[in-house]
Amino acid sequence: MTLPSYEPRPPPGKKSLVGSYPYARWILLALIVYSVVRLYGVGGSNTKRGNNSPLEPSNGIHNGLSKSSVPTISLLSGLEMPAIGYGTCCRASARGDAIYKSTGLYLKLGGRLIDTAMAYRNHDEIGRAVKESGVPRSEIWITSKVAPGKVSSYHACLVAVDEILTELDTTYLDLLLIHTPKLGKDPTIELWKCLIEAKRLGKTKSIGVSNFNRGEIEDIASATGELPEANEIQLHPWSSTSWKELAKWQNENTIATIAYTSLGGSRFDSSGGSPSWPPVVSKLAKKYGATEAQILLKWALQNDLAVIPGSGSKKHIKENLLLSPAFDLTRDELLDIENAQVPHGWWDPKRGHQKYLEEEASLPWVKRKNG
Ligand SMILES: NC(=O)c1ccc[n+]([C@@H]2O[C@H](COP(=O)([O-])OP(=O)(O)OC[C@H]3O[C@@H](n4cnc5c(N)ncnc54)[C@H](OP(=O)(O)O)[C@@H]3O)[C@@H](O)[C@H]2O)c1
Repeated sequence: MTLPSYEPRPPPGKKSLVGSYPYARWILLALIVYSVVRLYGVGGSNTKRGNNSPLEPSNGIHNGLSKSSVPTISLLSGLEMPAIGYGTCCRASARGDAIYKSTGLYLKLGGRLIDTAMAYRNHDEIGRAVKESGVPRSEIWITSKVAPGKVSSYHACLVAVDEILTELDTTYLDLLLIHTPKLGKDPTIELWKCLIEAKRLGKTKSIGVSNFNRGEIEDIASATGELPEANEIQLHPWSSTSWKELAKWQNENTIATIAYTSLGGSRFDSSGGSPSWPPVVSKLAKKYGATEAQILLKWALQNDLAVIPGSGSKKHIKENLLLSPAFDLTRDELLDIENAQVPHGWWDPKRGHQKYLEEEASLPWVKRKNG
């Protein structure tokens, strides 16, 4: 007796792959699943959502990939950059022995990205902390920045890159940025060419910019054919729409957005008194058993922004790594945070307010007032 066959029969002379190899259908199924995942980006970067925010969570952050269990974000080059870093600028505890000790502590707690710059004048201490941490250099991500205030030509920039490496006592950087576009278009293009050369020479694994707007990024990219892999900008839930649009555009073009002032800037410098958080942030902190800072960092991560909060306090360094508790904000909650009524003067009054930020975000080659 012949059993009925449910396999479509191949035409004579042709063999069905599925029919010929018993495991082929499973391989085929696996290939289809893989293709769908690649196409629709489980962890990809173009997930759409229907809300009023220009930002569209949540995509490029991959949880638990690195050995330190810090989430990562994919760069254009394919490198996985830790999405939570340690900022080393500006505050009193970002210099000298204080930053040496706190960087060591951050690494001990599992943090893996250090954000520094020529302008911060703490390369020596950070280099020493990295060396003495016992963590292999290959597991630590170091970002630094050339300072357009000090460096204004291609050759001066190449010399500066070597100085940065010497100060940090390392043979390479993981990410090198132009700190600001404040020199204007042509000199900045020269600096960008220097960064491209530094990458070609193996002095940095990836290159990017900071405080650039879209027009400025497009200008350096069209002059050299090379897009920055990241742009480090001031971004938080109450940033102007222009900056959020920039982050969205960057996301669509695989330019990682590294957000600073994720916690609301100098207003939250707890050394100057207690931070004052908007009620919705405090309400969510209570709901999730988290701190307000963790709620704001989560807002950023769920919007595919990398964060680099800085702190001189062990408690804050620990909580900023989001080691616990584990939670995700809902989409409504992400929007509730953005829609919070933030009191006027939220920002450091010394740096100006929304109008200034709007201009920066939209006009190319605006002379920067800070950086
Ligand atoms: N590319 C650029 O132009 C640029 C500009 C500015 C900053 N940055 C980078 O971005 C980093 C972050 O800058 P930022 O302006 O966000 O902050 P920041 O200058 O690093 O300072 C953050 C302040 O928030 C406080 N803080 C940190 N964690 C906290 C927590 N969990 N709860 C309450 N308070 C907390 C800290 O005080 P405690 O010490 O008391 O914790 C600190 O004084 C900088 O360190 C720097 O690396 C880059």
